[in-house]
Amino acid sequence: MMHFTKFEDKATAEKLIQKALDYKRDPWIDQAKGQRKRIGCIFLNPSLRTRASTQIAAQQLGMEAIVMNMDKEGWALEMREGVTMNKGTVEHIRDAAGVLGSYFDILAIRAFPSLTNKQEDLEDFVFNQFIKYSGIPVISLESAIRHPLQSLADMVTIHENRGIDKKPKVVLTWAPHIKAIPHAVANSFAEWAIGCGHDLTITHPYGYELDENFTKGANIVLDQKEALAGADFVYVKNWSGFNDYGKILNTDSSWMLTEKHLKHAKNAKIMHCLPVRRNLELSDEMLDGPRSLVMQQAHNRIFAAQSVISHILDQK
Ligand code: CP
Repeated sequence: MMHFTKFEDKATAEKLIQKALDYKRDPWIDQAKGQRKRIGCIFLNPSLRTRASTQIAAQQLGMEAIVMNMDKEGWALEMREGVTMNKGTVEHIRDAAGVLGSYFDILAIRAFPSLTNKQEDLEDFVFNQFIKYSGIPVISLESAIRHPLQSLADMVTIHENRGIDKKPKVVLTWAPHIKAIPHAVANSFAEWAIGCGHDLTITHPYGYELDENFTKGANIVLDQKEALAGADFVYVKNWSGFNDYGKILNTDSSWMLTEKHLKHAKNAKIMHCLPVRRNLELSDEMLDGPRSLVMQQAHNRIFAAQSVISHILDQK
């Protein structure tokens, strides 16, 4: 069964990027493809972009999208096997996912990490329980460890903005934050950038090393100034500690990108997945200036989702 949960291989990624660009040129070219089919978008956590873009993408394929905010509107789900449900949970994932699997042709799930139970987060336990019991194709709307729809939109955005004469230098830089933030966007961006053959440098303060399963093949440079020199694309993102799991280890505001940081990266474009905390993670100057690609990235979320849904419908 075909799921969309991670980067698979370069050929598939290139196919998905091309399809997204086709849909961007003409969003309605496949408007009959999803007729009489339904996608269930299940949110266990908040969302703006992922929620709206996935619905629009489905609509443009003629497919009905039903959104359920399970964290607020659904029964409290029990995820563990074999427990006596005599506490707060009301419905078992086995039953809930089984029912959802009988209502929809595709399920799409957002399930953030706990940032407290590392083992469970690394296994993507909650997300995988939906896959295990729904019995239908599942799309990740961001899991505990990956955000592949965001990364696909990011790859489309890089494709649209890169020159053809040289391989672009892509830098993923850590940014300050006041909350403990998941690793999913950073992990996924690294996985896709490396997988798509980009020259990726990752920079962060000491202690913020990401899971090396996602960063193999990237240059890790702890000096942000050195890392940014000559960059063509700078992806800004906070993440919490991985080794010191879910902890905030540093809030040094000098890591927040300003024009001064890009003195040696004159043509660098700035990327961020949004939502962004202005003047904490990224300055107004950067977000609203000519280097910013953030609106283009967010817009491309529609066509990334449309490409993935279409690809799954082709396999069904
Ligand atoms: N980038 C992103 O996933 O945005 P939302 O959390 O608003 O969906």
